[in-house]
Amino acid sequence: MKRLLLLNACLTLVCAGVFAQPKLNENNIPEVVKAMTAEEKALFVVGIQQNAEPYRGKFLPGTGGVTYPIPRLGIPSIVMMDGPVGIRLNDNETTCFPTGLLTAASWDRSVARRIGEGIGEESLDMGNDVILAPGMNILRNPLNGRNFEYFSEDPVLSGFIASAFIDGVQSKGVGTSAKHFAANNQETNRLDADSRLDTRTLREIYTKAFELCVQHSQPWTVMASYNYLNGTYTQESRELLTGILRNDFGFRGLVVTDWTGRRNTPKQINAGSDLLMGGSPSQTAHILQSLENGTLKMEDLDRACTKLLELIVKTPSFKGNRPSLKPDLAASAKVARETATEGMVLLKNNGALPAKPARAALFGVHSYSMIQGGNGAAWVHSPYIVSPAEGLKNAGFKLDQSLEKLYTGYATFISEDLKYNHKVNVHVGDAQKPELEITPELIKNTALNNDIAFVTLGRISGEARDRILKRDFLFQENEINLLETVCEEYHAAGKKVVVLLNICGPVETASWSYLPDAILCTWLPGEEGGNAIADVLTGKVNPSGRLPMTFPLDYFDAAGAEDFPYDFHSDRANESVVHPERRGIPLKNVAYTDYTEGIYVGYRYFCTQNKPVAYPFGYGLSYTSFEYSAASARIAGDNLIASVTVRNTGTVAGKEAVGLYVAAPLGNFKDKPARELREFGKTRLLQPGESQTLTFTVPVRQLASFNSAKSRWETARGIYKAFFGADATNPEAEATFKVASARNYSATRACEPR
Ligand code: BGC
Repeated sequence: MKRLLLLNACLTLVCAGVFAQPKLNENNIPEVVKAMTAEEKALFVVGIQQNAEPYRGKFLPGTGGVTYPIPRLGIPSIVMMDGPVGIRLNDNETTCFPTGLLTAASWDRSVARRIGEGIGEESLDMGNDVILAPGMNILRNPLNGRNFEYFSEDPVLSGFIASAFIDGVQSKGVGTSAKHFAANNQETNRLDADSRLDTRTLREIYTKAFELCVQHSQPWTVMASYNYLNGTYTQESRELLTGILRNDFGFRGLVVTDWTGRRNTPKQINAGSDLLMGGSPSQTAHILQSLENGTLKMEDLDRACTKLLELIVKTPSFKGNRPSLKPDLAASAKVARETATEGMVLLKNNGALPAKPARAALFGVHSYSMIQGGNGAAWVHSPYIVSPAEGLKNAGFKLDQSLEKLYTGYATFISEDLKYNHKVNVHVGDAQKPELEITPELIKNTALNNDIAFVTLGRISGEARDRILKRDFLFQENEINLLETVCEEYHAAGKKVVVLLNICGPVETASWSYLPDAILCTWLPGEEGGNAIADVLTGKVNPSGRLPMTFPLDYFDAAGAEDFPYDFHSDRANESVVHPERRGIPLKNVAYTDYTEGIYVGYRYFCTQNKPVAYPFGYGLSYTSFEYSAASARIAGDNLIASVTVRNTGTVAGKEAVGLYVAAPLGNFKDKPARELREFGKTRLLQPGESQTLTFTVPVRQLASFNSAKSRWETARGIYKAFFGADATNPEAEATFKVASARNYSATRACEPR
């Protein structure tokens, strides 16, 4: 009997050992990984397209991707949705917030944070665990098709705005995906273009924003880009994903690949990619084969599984979030409207603005059909879009009926067309639609019957297509003709003309900007754009946006302008990358792109060369004026402390964006930019006569340049200059400070979080 009991007890123990299945919780991840079979691991790290069997119908249409569930171990699927300006779903309505360029143009972290919080809230409502945002590639060239999703030509502005957005989303318990890592700066041949650049440029410009946001905000995920970097796919680059991102920057989250299956799967995992999206069954098979033939080590696969489990235990899905599918659209609309006003940039104002509600003539198709966002992953199916026409009406303007009637029919056609393009994710080529021809007689008539004219000029762009120079960066003849005639007739009648730029990125302005009385750059301002535009035009909100990139006089003025596919206009996303007449020879700027300008991107080049531009980085006007005083800068231990006092010297309340630029001595380098943005901020709303002192604290190591030969950051000894003011070319105040001895920092953890 005793024996029988013993046998029974042993059997129970063995069975418990064999059948005990840990259920995932945040403390037992190693145990869960141990309990996974090789097959399960190989399925787990490969993502699932939302419409793949057997998942079809289980997730909302338009969902970016989901992960493989393993119910026996308590592992649910988690959900990833696009994108940077709001949740992208096909059928469900969500809020279209202002796009990235506008957000960065606010020069205000709290604006990015509010947008992030709004997207975080809607994620909970829609059952999303990770938002595939922020998009934060550097605006290397004005014509990148995705510039509108991104933030700036400057890595510090990009990095801190991204950080604030990430903090906003993650404060709601939802993950982010800082993308696309790295040097993904063109859409032409986007899956396979090789970005060729030197190490200093990579570190100082193209990975710097990621470094800052990783160290300050630890995004739950980083997305590895599509492109090659110096001959290696970023998704397969151990140097980039493990060396730089994890070891040097201290990234602790998960690396998800951008949505492609056409890579070498074991290489991706070896390199540090943890989740292969969008995912295909062939990748799972490849993982199993590679384990067998030794090209993939189990420990690398285990690392990927561990990272994914660490992500899963943080998600709303894991924590039992029950999506309502009813986002608070009214609350988000308020955020969308208020934040949109913060990043609009007043480029010119000869007394036309602010404008009192009056009789107004609106020209240009986008006055009636505003472009709220761009195409592709950053498109949002919003409940409505407030056009400038509606916004001005809401603000009390009486619109010219003859024009409204004429344009409305045409604009409906345009917006249907735009919607269609968004929906099927077609990447519009000549994105802007032909302007409606308005006869000079009609223009003349309206000039007699109205008090003011607004002319909206629009440009849309999107994923998989770059913009081109002619008909896009340069306005078309009929657009300029319209503007000329309106200005002629309205000026003859003693009335003002205001141009609204409803644009996805820089456009040529120098040849026509003398014509109108005022120019307001509204960017692609999200669904509440028209109301926000009216708020700024009427002075309800005093404009305080500043350009996050340079508007050059001429496209070819910038260094590296030739090294971009500015004239390559493909009808397909992946046009042949070989020269059509010289078969087999890789096509420059398509198969590969040389970043010949190195670190001299945007204002770094224009300021160093003292070259005139149309509107400099950091430029923007206000309805009031500001005076700077008491500029000071000093080193205190490991930090630069710089401060300046800003006083509102005008007659209306306003906010002032302030940049802290630093000019560093050469040290071991043969060249350095004339000045570089190291910090920035914005005053609160200052009443006339009121002042505020802004104090910036910058780690001395953030003043360093990257010495590639020694693979370290170097802060030179010597006298530095600190410049205050947003406009890179025209600082308002300056101070000097001294770094008494050179300081070198290893590439690893070069910059600690503050
Ligand atoms: C885009 C990403 C996006 C992903 C998922 C890719 O084509 O490049 O930005 O997040 O698709 O939709």
